[in-house]
Amino acid sequence: MRPNFLKLNHPASWLAQGAVVLLLNSPLVIPQSTAADVAKVYQSSCAACHDHSVFNAPKKGDKVTWDKLKQQKGMPALINSVKGGMTQMPAGGLCENCNEKDFKALIEFMSK
Ligand code: HEC
Repeated sequence: MRPNFLKLNHPASWLAQGAVVLLLNSPLVIPQSTAADVAKVYQSSCAACHDHSVFNAPKKGDKVTWDKLKQQKGMPALINSVKGGMTQMPAGGLCENCNEKDFKALIEFMSK
């Protein structure tokens, strides 16, 4: 016999559905890293500085500079730079909910 809470009309299943809707509507949470999500988080967190090289931030799309950074420092070091912050970059790059996977996706996004 199936347990009662699996039935669709049970309040517990409404709650579960509500949680999924909340997750999908939150701009800073990346449930599955799709290109569109990365672009959104980039816009709300990183673009303020990385779109126009504010404070000399390596610019989005400046492939030469990003390739150099990836080669010289390596991806793990770049992720750590964002996590811990740098001279001019706040820790987390203004994305409080980002994890290492998100930062990696954002860095890949910026280097294109
Ligand atoms: C307030 C401005 C600002 C924001 C917001 C910001 N950055 Fe930066 N970022 C910088 C600056 C400036 C540098 C150049 C290093 C320095 O002087 O701090 C930099 C450097 C970097 C680097 C190179 C690190 C290295 O080791 O050389 C990476 C990677 C990076 N940012 C990623 C991100 C990501 C991802 C986000 C968004 C989640 C972000 N940044 C948001 C300003 C910013």
